[in-house]
Amino acid sequence: MSKIEIKNNIFWVGATDWNVKKFHGHTYNTKRGSTYNAYLIIDEKITLVDTVYGPFAGEMLENIKQVIDPSRIDYIIANHVETDHSGALPVIIKFCPNAKVFGTQKCKEGLYKNYYGNWDFQIVKTGDKLELGKRTLMFVEAPMLHWPDSMFTYCPEEEMLLPNDAFGQHYASSKIFDDEVDLNFVMEEAVKYYANILWPFSSLVVKKIEDVVKMGIPIKIIAPSHGIIWRKDPMKIINAYLSWGKNETKKKIVVVYETMWQSTEKMAKKIVNGIIDSGIEVKLFDINQADRTEVVGEMLDSKGFIIGSSTHNNDMLVTIAGFLEFLKGLKPKNRIGCAFGSYGWSGGAVKSIENILKETGIEIVQPGIQFKYVPDENESKQCYEYGKNFADKIML
Ligand code: FEO
Repeated sequence: MSKIEIKNNIFWVGATDWNVKKFHGHTYNTKRGSTYNAYLIIDEKITLVDTVYGPFAGEMLENIKQVIDPSRIDYIIANHVETDHSGALPVIIKFCPNAKVFGTQKCKEGLYKNYYGNWDFQIVKTGDKLELGKRTLMFVEAPMLHWPDSMFTYCPEEEMLLPNDAFGQHYASSKIFDDEVDLNFVMEEAVKYYANILWPFSSLVVKKIEDVVKMGIPIKIIAPSHGIIWRKDPMKIINAYLSWGKNETKKKIVVVYETMWQSTEKMAKKIVNGIIDSGIEVKLFDINQADRTEVVGEMLDSKGFIIGSSTHNNDMLVTIAGFLEFLKGLKPKNRIGCAFGSYGWSGGAVKSIENILKETGIEIVQPGIQFKYVPDENESKQCYEYGKNFADKIML
């Protein structure tokens, strides 16, 4: 592959992972693959910003060699410890043993506990600068966006932000920039990325963006560590992050359920019909058929969550239980919800769902609805009205 120059004397030297379909163990489904972006800045001091996932170290090395002899690298910026961005570091640094590594205190600790390398490491803090020659790099600590060690790097001469994971997307492409791809797909992946990874840290996201605005640094280009680079319209993703970070929602409901013998599913469909007839946008997911990563993405801008489960052993079914535990960890704010489900001889699922929704901080706006075995005509009508009633609450 030919070298990829993203700006004058700044090269993309990352790797494209076309085949990855699971991320963070099995937590996150990456149906469009991903990229591990790393950047090589050629100046009086040659600087590498981040590396890639370990198995791609060879590809990264080839990309660097397209531009320079790796032994010429003077500095390596480690914006983030996580292995998809640092895994190749122990390999790369063997080719430039005199390179100095820059990162936060937590980054230093994290790199050591991952790789046990005795590298020349300089701790940096917000506002610290590194002169490269014609260019400067400035560092901005970004703790918990999304790990304690996370950091942004900014190049004022290029008006370029290198924020690592922030503003990224799991999106493998032969193209590099936002103006070269179908942005609908990119934004779909950006939504999922935010919802599944950054949602719990939303207040910090908003504060960090406000801090960066206060610093008065112009941003013409955002080069994250996953997916495409924002150069045509970086404000598109910044404004989206501000909206998601503030937990802004629209009049939209997500219904998620798990069913044992389709009675709970029958209830779900009647509830959805009531919502549709109220004119409110709704999405329905059987959690055992759906891609959980996408369900969470749909929830990011939804005001209402309706959760259903059949009762099993006096409790909800196991897949929806796991899903709700995951949702709790994402800490959604300003949402309303309710619960439903079918049971055989004694209920329990609806109460359990309500309890975990409350623990998650979701306001329960109407009592749960449950029916024995298969809902009859009258009970189906009640489910329909239940959906309509919840839709009315969304309108408030
Ligand atoms: Fe893409 Fe936090 O790693």
